[in-house]
Amino acid sequence: MKKNIVVFGAGGHAKAVIDAIEREGQYRIAGLLDSYKAAGSEVYGYRILGNEQYLLEHREEIDGCIVAIGDNWGRAGIVDRISSLCPDFPFVTAVHPGAWIARGAVLGQGTVVMAGAVVNSDTVIGEHCVLYPKASVDHDSQVGDYATLAPGATTGGNVTIGEYSVLSLGANVIHSVRVGEHTVIGAGATVLNDIGGYAVAYGTPAAVARSRAAGERYL
Ligand SMILES: CC(C)(COP(=O)(O)OP(=O)(O)OC[C@H]1O[C@@H](n2cnc3c(N)ncnc32)[C@H](O)[C@@H]1OP(=O)(O)O)[C@@H](O)C(=O)NCCC(=O)NCCS
Repeated sequence: MKKNIVVFGAGGHAKAVIDAIEREGQYRIAGLLDSYKAAGSEVYGYRILGNEQYLLEHREEIDGCIVAIGDNWGRAGIVDRISSLCPDFPFVTAVHPGAWIARGAVLGQGTVVMAGAVVNSDTVIGEHCVLYPKASVDHDSQVGDYATLAPGATTGGNVTIGEYSVLSLGANVIHSVRVGEHTVIGAGATVLNDIGGYAVAYGTPAAVARSRAAGERYL
């Protein structure tokens, strides 16, 4: 029998995560959780059951959860709230069958990999990351927890992306480069050299334009 899971989030990002889960076919979505939308309303035929408190009250019926919030910092906040209410509650991954996960690649719990994305050989993707359609991380790379690769973002091999960082639409990071934590690489950038943490960088070649605080909005 399929495991029962809930999806936290009921917006546009959640629709894409639901699609990946449905097509993967590994879990049954029991419903959605959301902090803002009213319980009882529906997305794609799934009812909003309540907010994270629901898990506390229905712990025995739900086998796992995935947090479908696009903003890295916002996603982390919900994961923390769920984990403090229900310690050790399992988070599941969602991998669209049209994604390619190569031999030796590892995905941390809560991570979403959308259609057309590639995680190449021996690459490690952290927990609660999002790889949007056609994002690609080449071999032997490391992506930290809560990081995002937007649609079409691409890295070469042996790249390191720090936790909470973002490679925006169509950004490219060449092989062996390191991007620090909480850094946003702008859309269409070409990163040729290491970029430190807590920065916004863009352009070709990418250059740091300004510093950035943890949790600062980028979407
Ligand atoms: C980099 C980014 C986060 C904005 O950073 P910001 O510091 O707020 O920059 P601003 O919007 O204030 O723009 C400042 C200047 O940089 C330029 N700029 C902004 N983003 C740029 C980019 N990606 N490439 C080149 N130039 C860029 C602006 O045109 C502006 O130039 P000007 O001063 O000559 O007018 C944003 O532009 C971006 O690329 N966002 C990614 C969007 C995306 O991929 N979303 C999907 C996520 S899943």
